Amino acid sequence: MTNALGAAILAALLGSIPFGLLLTRAAGMGDIRAIGSGNIGATNVLRTGSRKLAAATLLLDALKGTVAVLVARWLFGPEWAPLAALAAVLGHCFPPWLGFRGGKGVATALGVMLGLSWPVFVVSALFWLLAAKLSRISSVGALAAMAVAPLAALAFADGRTALALLAVAAIVFWRHHENIARLRAGTEPRIGAGK
Ligand code: G3P
Repeated sequence: MTNALGAAILAALLGSIPFGLLLTRAAGMGDIRAIGSGNIGATNVLRTGSRKLAAATLLLDALKGTVAVLVARWLFGPEWAPLAALAAVLGHCFPPWLGFRGGKGVATALGVMLGLSWPVFVVSALFWLLAAKLSRISSVGALAAMAVAPLAALAFADGRTALALLAVAAIVFWRHHENIARLRAGTEPRIGAGK
């Protein structure tokens, strides 16, 4: 119980670091939540026009997920890695420091996949890149990657990992409810468009 709690709290704290907000603020761009979709993730940081900051946000948001899983596994035991993965994504989506209004969880979800099982990460990242490239819509890539992750975990990892990634996918889909509504209406912006 103590180990489970430790893994969850550590991962949630790491996940709650809002890199998109911190980087854009440090670059003197103001509050990213007042730009584009208002999201703190890499897709919205790209709407500031800075590819470098968007890439850094993507990388750091993913890395914090990987680190959360690896450190939790090391400190508390491998059985708690899937719980840490879920907690890191929850921390990103609901950071206490931002009034529990955080990001949509995509980069952090990919990061935790890398920490849990690299084949699951590779399959999911390939679906993400392919779907985003074909549709030219970031959220389509994200949702495709999340949908395939639990299935990839069943094939390449174990039941606990698959269950954690199913919960992660549910959170990410829920956080994309506005994107899904825009996709249905045909108004979701394409990558590179200002929104
Ligand atoms: O990762 C978030 C992406 O899927 C959509 O972001 O800013 O277009 O809502 P955004």
